[in-house]
Order: sequence, then C-alpha cells, then structure tokens
Amino acid sequence: MRTVYLNGAFVAESNATVSIFDRGLLFADAVYEVFSVLDGQIIDHAPHMARLKRSLAEMTIDHDVGAADWETVLATLIERNALEEGTIYLQISRGAADRDFLFPPAGTVPTVFAFTQARNLVANPMAERGMRILTRPDRRWGRRDIKTVQLLYASMMKMDAKAAGVDDVWLVEGDVITEGTSQNACIITPAGHLVTRNLGDHILPGVTRRTLIGIAQASGVTVEERPFTIAEAQGAAEAFVTSATLFVMPVVQIDGLAVGDGAPGVHTMALRKAYIDHARATG
Ligand code: PDD
Repeated sequence: MRTVYLNGAFVAESNATVSIFDRGLLFADAVYEVFSVLDGQIIDHAPHMARLKRSLAEMTIDHDVGAADWETVLATLIERNALEEGTIYLQISRGAADRDFLFPPAGTVPTVFAFTQARNLVANPMAERGMRILTRPDRRWGRRDIKTVQLLYASMMKMDAKAAGVDDVWLVEGDVITEGTSQNACIITPAGHLVTRNLGDHILPGVTRRTLIGIAQASGVTVEERPFTIAEAQGAAEAFVTSATLFVMPVVQIDGLAVGDGAPGVHTMALRKAYIDHARATG
C-alpha cells in the first residue's frame, strides 16, 4: 500500500480521505502538477513549482507554495514508496466549504495532497511504434493556461480515441491545432524546423515543451512558436508530443494519414534521447 501526503502528514493511502464538501470535488476548484521521476529523482522540480504557483495565483487560491518544503515532501514520498521511475501527482484545492458557487471567505484552508505512481517512462513501447492520433474540436474552457483538475473533456476525447483504436487526440480550433489532450503538440517541418503552438490562454505552458525548446535550440535547431494547421502537421516531416509522462513521443499518424514515412522520425527520436539524457543529468 502506498504512503501518500495529505495536508501536512504522510499517511497510508486507505486513510487519506477528504471532505465531500471539498471544492475540488464540487466545482473542480483545484489545480495540480505531475512530476516525472527517473532514477528516484524528480525532473524539472523548479519549473513545475513555478507553474503551480502561477495556477494558484490565477485562481486566487490563497496558498503559499513556499510555506511547505515541497522538495522534502516529494523526496519523502519517493523514499517511502521506493519509487525508481514514475510520476508524482500533487493537487491543491480551495478547500472545503458548504456548497456555494461563490468562493468561501478568506481563511478557508486549502486541501493539499500528493501521491506516487510507479510506471515505465523510458521503456515505453509507444516510443518504438509511435502514436496514432485523431483531431477533434477543442471544447475545453478558455483558460487552458491554468492547470486545473477540470479534465472531463480531455478524458472523453481519450475515450473517443480508444474507441477508434488509436492512441490519443489533438484538439483543434477551426483547423488550427491547440495541443494534445494532455500533451503539447509539435511538428518538424520539411526544412527541419521545430514548430509548436505559441503560448497564451489557449494551451498549457508545458514544462517539457519549454525544456525541450532549450535543448533543441542548443543543438542548433530553429524553433518556431506559432499556430499550425492539421494539413501542415499531416504534411510535416515528423510530429511528436511532449509531456511529463511521455517526455518526447513520436506521432506517426494524424486522422488516418501517415506523417512522413509513418515511422517515428529520426529528429524526434534524437530529441527524445537528448531530453532523457538531460533529465537524468539534471534530476
Ligand atoms: N498533463 N497540455 C496539457 C493539456 C496537459 O495536461 C499537459 C500535462 C501538457 C504537458 O505539460 P508538461 O510538459 O508540463 O507535463 C500539455 C499531465 C502530464 C497530466 O495531466 O497527466
């Protein structure tokens, strides 16, 4: 049984309970982060914490992230659960209060918890075969830059992909790709440029996306942060997604059409390796 963290204490997962009045449950009034763990070390701890702080500020959830020594909390979870490779999920809600659309008065104590999930991140068979994806309208709310737990549409779209026998969905507005259901979307143009959607309130500012842009630029790759269409992605040399759980994952098919030669691209696989090497070196 896992040891999890809840409101300042380490407890057995079966003893970790929250109120039915928690606003995270009633209104999805909560934000979260997912950290990857390799060789027992957290990857990109600082930028994930910075994004968490920003999400809390945008939601006006009154919680001082700096008050807890998160590095120690996460390290303790890793140690107590003997986590070598996997993820840590961290959630902060506005707290419990009688059901009311209006936020509760100041002083309501946020609910804070974190737990580990063991899984193979590096030896993921999908990296060998590549992902097949569908495109679907982006019907999420308009503040996708905030990492809230309001993930129902993403969940439904992943079920759509599963029912169609493919791996995931890229969300589109008109014919322009915003991002994946839980990853940022990227392509490599025939000229070898890395293209990914510019930041704004339409996508999550992915930590993996940011780190990878730095790695790509350092190795001489031109990076363009701009909108791109389904047709441009289908006609690209390569395509891939980035996220804390998939790192850099090749996309080989979009709406039934092969990207490039239909196999994981060489640039993509080089970027995947460079990202994992970087993560291991800095974790
Ligand atoms: N999802 N876009 C969306 C909508 C996401 O949910 C995520 C992450 C990303 C990639 O961000 P990052 O590189 O910081 O992981 C982009 C996490 C993994 C999840 O919800 O499980």
